[in-house]
Amino acid sequence: MCSDTAQPAALPMTDIRGVPVSYRDRSAIDGLESAILMSLSFRGDAIAEIDRVLAAHPDFIMGWLFKAAWLTQAMETRVYDTMLQCLAQSERLLPGCNDRERGHHEAVKAWVQGDFFGAVQKWEAVLTQYPMDLLALELIHYTMVLLGDVPGQRDVVARVFNLWDESIPGYEFVLGFYSFGLEENRDFSRAEDLARQALSLRPDNPYAVHTVSHVMEMRGRQGDGIRFMKDNAGMWGTSNFANHLWWHTGLYHLDLEQYDQVFDIFDTHLDSRNKDGHKYEELDAAALLWRMNLVGQDGGDRWTHLADKWEPAAQDTLYAFNDVHAMLTFVSDGRAHAQQALLSANERYLEHASDANAAMTREIGLPFCLAMQDFKREHYSRCVERLLPIRYMTHRLGGSYAQRDIIGWTLLEAALRARQFDLALALANERTGIKPTSAQNWRAVARAFKGLGDHSQADRATAKAHSLIAA
Ligand SMILES: [Fe+2]
Repeated sequence: MCSDTAQPAALPMTDIRGVPVSYRDRSAIDGLESAILMSLSFRGDAIAEIDRVLAAHPDFIMGWLFKAAWLTQAMETRVYDTMLQCLAQSERLLPGCNDRERGHHEAVKAWVQGDFFGAVQKWEAVLTQYPMDLLALELIHYTMVLLGDVPGQRDVVARVFNLWDESIPGYEFVLGFYSFGLEENRDFSRAEDLARQALSLRPDNPYAVHTVSHVMEMRGRQGDGIRFMKDNAGMWGTSNFANHLWWHTGLYHLDLEQYDQVFDIFDTHLDSRNKDGHKYEELDAAALLWRMNLVGQDGGDRWTHLADKWEPAAQDTLYAFNDVHAMLTFVSDGRAHAQQALLSANERYLEHASDANAAMTREIGLPFCLAMQDFKREHYSRCVERLLPIRYMTHRLGGSYAQRDIIGWTLLEAALRARQFDLALALANERTGIKPTSAQNWRAVARAFKGLGDHSQADRATAKAHSLIAA
């Protein structure tokens, strides 16, 4: 049962934001709040915290629903059994629960059936009715990032933002979500303002740090980015989101051709060979090493350890974003068997699948996996043929603009190596237009001009790259 008849029934219980909760025990509701806070601040172990609550309160439906919902964000098959167990507990407790809890239940149910977009719609319905439901807002925002719904990441927050203010607990996280949504939609000034406002309210707020790091990345403020991240590293040193923030720091160094620092960050913070890393952490590691490959830096045996981590997930076909990162490691480590296993599993999956991941895989995931194989086999023209038609659709793969940039950069590098210098110049110009302070972009311009025989323009572009690095 969801309700304890020993408590007075007249006044409904609420959480600290006034959102109704059917379970009538304050310690359980406070325990859930603690777990939600851990998930928002990337501190502690939110699952262990909610397990502690559920051990004492096995009939607390929102406890089960939080646990299942937070596990959705892992995007790993290994959590599915636990999600199903939580959903079964929730199903048992549905009679007598309120509309909000039913909405959360329906969302998780849609998710485990593979309908990620349907889950978002269910959570959206909850948030529309309960704009202070910070958990629903968190889940929708993060899921929209996972699914590549770029305007949605911003607008889901906009729909409730004016109803919030500093007096409502958790406002700093709402600022963080909104700031990231604005950043991904290229409203960089406002994004940075809101992220810094969030940090002024709560300095240990990795998601707001993350927004600032993206603003620095997108605007090519590498020096500012390195300083900002190192000044704030103490605030995210113990969170599992820290790996991603180190990845961002590595990108600044990479753009400045400070390759020793990139490898140092990898070896110190991203190398998971001696720990049980999550996929989310390992995909950043793979993405950083691949970028190093593109600039001619050999990752050595780092690839072997990373491919070892990815190989058990080669046939998951759960999330195309994971699959392309697995493929990065398999092609880089020369694992033909694992490459084939991943491709075959995806081809079999696409014959019958109709879930949310099917379109992501068909449109972007599989073409990019095949393009990576072409790249590694030095079939650069074929790599270009695969990537050129999809480069403006890559948001459908999910992740951030900065993460997906790996596709555009691979396309440019393939065009250069295929000696398609007209195309390479066009693509490099496009990149300097978006980020004129990137030395790597000017290096590509220089190589394209050199290939075209225009040494004067090539020298100018090289000088530009040198000036940016020196600055
Ligand atoms: Fe990021």
